[in-house]
Amino acid sequence: MKSNKVSAKIPFHIAIIMDGNGRWAEKRSLLRKFGHRAGVRTLIKTVKYAFSLGVGIVTVYAFSTENRLRPKDEVDSLIDLIRKNFATTFGDLVKRGIRVRVLGERSFFPPDVVEIMDKVEEESKEGKTGIFNVALNYGGRAEIVRAAEKLSQSGKEFNEENFSRFLYTSDQPDPDIIIRTGGEKRLSNFLLYQSAYSELFFSDTLWPDFSMKELDSIISQYGERDRRYGKV
Ligand code: IPE
Ligand code: IPE
Ligand code: MG
Repeated sequence: MKSNKVSAKIPFHIAIIMDGNGRWAEKRSLLRKFGHRAGVRTLIKTVKYAFSLGVGIVTVYAFSTENRLRPKDEVDSLIDLIRKNFATTFGDLVKRGIRVRVLGERSFFPPDVVEIMDKVEEESKEGKTGIFNVALNYGGRAEIVRAAEKLSQSGKEFNEENFSRFLYTSDQPDPDIIIRTGGEKRLSNFLLYQSAYSELFFSDTLWPDFSMKELDSIISQYGERDRRYGKV
């Protein structure tokens, strides 16, 4: 995959809310799970492409704490996709030197899936090419409450630096860009703490249709934005 019109300013950390899988499937009179399957193909393509451009961290929202309330069938099909992809496709990223990390409360998942997550994290922990964060059973509010609890147990001083160490993204810079596909203009409980100064991009494209051309375009728009961080 080759980039054609990308600006010289490449964001270091890109986060993506991959929304629209269900509608993509419904438009084709398919079951929603086929939309999620198509979404995984787009995810793999996008992550590989982003790292090939020189992006350092890619964070994707794959399953929210609220998504647990979907019909059991759909939740089961999502868990199955996680099971299959952590073992195989993400293994391919690990071979390329990508460190894989799970953001979220993994104990919700069946023990065999937790084992796969632990294994991929362990096997990839020396990866130097980039970091791939997968948010699974992740909620921004739950993450903040958890960090507060851990900081209080540590006995350390309450300040932003110490607090952020107890977030799932500890030791990682905040996202430069958050992209949401699927037309909705909200964060849906994603990276509430880390998004303070992220540039937001909303696209009507349903996630399975998201293209590398569109990513190129978002990256060049990012290059033209003026990030003032509250200054003049
Ligand atoms: C995003 O697609 C993937 C997950 C939330 C797991 P959706 O499943 O939310 O798709 P839409 O929004 O219903 O089209
Ligand atoms: C956000 O999408 C969660 C993921 C992409 C995993 P949702 O489809 O769950 O969000 P809402 O319901 O539109 O806010
Ligand atoms: Mg949705």
